[in-house]
Amino acid sequence: MKAHIVTLPGDGVGPEVTAATVAVLEAVAEHYDHGFRFSHHPIGGCAIDATGEPLPAATLDACRQADAVLLGAVGGPRWSDPEAKVRPEQGLLALRAALGVYANLRPLTVHPALAALSPLKNERLHEVDVVFVRELTGGAYFGAKTRSDETATDECRYTVAEVERVARRAFELARARRHHLTSVDKANVLETSRLWRSTVTRLSAEYPDVRLEHQLVDSMAMLLLTQPQRYDVVVTENLFGDILTDEAAALAGSLGLLPSASLGEGGRGLYEPIHGSAPDIAGQGVANPLGAILSAALLLRHSLGLDAEARAVESAVAQVLEHGPRSRDLGGQAGTAAVLDAVLVALADDAANHHAFFA
Ligand code: NAD
Ligand code: IPM
Ligand code: MN
Repeated sequence: MKAHIVTLPGDGVGPEVTAATVAVLEAVAEHYDHGFRFSHHPIGGCAIDATGEPLPAATLDACRQADAVLLGAVGGPRWSDPEAKVRPEQGLLALRAALGVYANLRPLTVHPALAALSPLKNERLHEVDVVFVRELTGGAYFGAKTRSDETATDECRYTVAEVERVARRAFELARARRHHLTSVDKANVLETSRLWRSTVTRLSAEYPDVRLEHQLVDSMAMLLLTQPQRYDVVVTENLFGDILTDEAAALAGSLGLLPSASLGEGGRGLYEPIHGSAPDIAGQGVANPLGAILSAALLLRHSLGLDAEARAVESAVAQVLEHGPRSRDLGGQAGTAAVLDAVLVALADDAANHHAFFA
């Protein structure tokens, strides 16, 4: 049976990086003899314009029936009036909640060839290899909201069960890596963080082989820049994870490089680069597609069980980072299409070697 991949290109540079990523997945299908079926659906601002809804029912239905969902980005100045009644971002949040994808994995590595692009000294970036596990369907994003002329509130709420399931993912991941888990919270101030810390600590009894440490989020923001090599797996709540991972992207050289996988209980996942719709460069054909392409590698690995193919995509991206061409955010001149072409060439070479080896 053909794997069904739903794509949600969205707004701004979303359609540009998604089109490049579909081309990479099509090349993977061709080289490794798989059949992928794609269907494209609106979400975010473009869906508001077409239907009045940021997540039309037909889009959600398609996602529920898919093996995996690939999303570009949503939002933009056109829909960002703070008084607007409906917003593109609501569509993405509703989708994450409806698919139950509570664990958002955001891997960070620093390619040696890009170390000079980071604001940090080269030696601090050597062998940085962290996976952030961001809780994705709870916290202030999903609590009750109120607004009157004089006051606004966003309730931040977590249950033990919500903390347990994401922490379990993080412990399991740490177990498969370097056995070190850092849990980030604000337990000196927030009640939700105290519940978080107690729950994670209790769970750690089941993972005696994993070294657990707790870190307050404010000092973590500093340590991420001064000692990034210290970290293996980092688990944190929704809003802290959002902020820390954009900060972490600066270590990699560009926000345009970081992928993500959002996973729940089943095999179906939601895959998206961590960057947004980049309104300042949208429509110019210059967006870096590599964060989206690396998200497709995570899709191959986590939803389709195609680890060798995932590694082939990652290695093709690594070769492009090493030899170029590079997009503007990485100090180069290349547009999205030229970067894509280079990835496709590297992928074809890799596949030819693979087939020669197994022939
Ligand atoms: P952004 O990530 O869109 O852009 C921040 C900066 O990074 C910009 O200078 C942009 O040009 C650059 N950048 C981002 N992606 C890039 C890429 N692939 N290649 C090259 N440069 C890239 O963040 P923002 O400006 O704060 O937000 C813009 C809009 O995107 C907002 O409406 C926000 O809600 C939305 N957003 C959506 C998602 C998502 O859909 N998952 C994520 C983040 C932000
Ligand atoms: C992200 C984005 C989203 C978030 C927005 C667009 C709702 O910033 O995926 O990191 O805050 O989760
Ligand atoms: Mn974000």
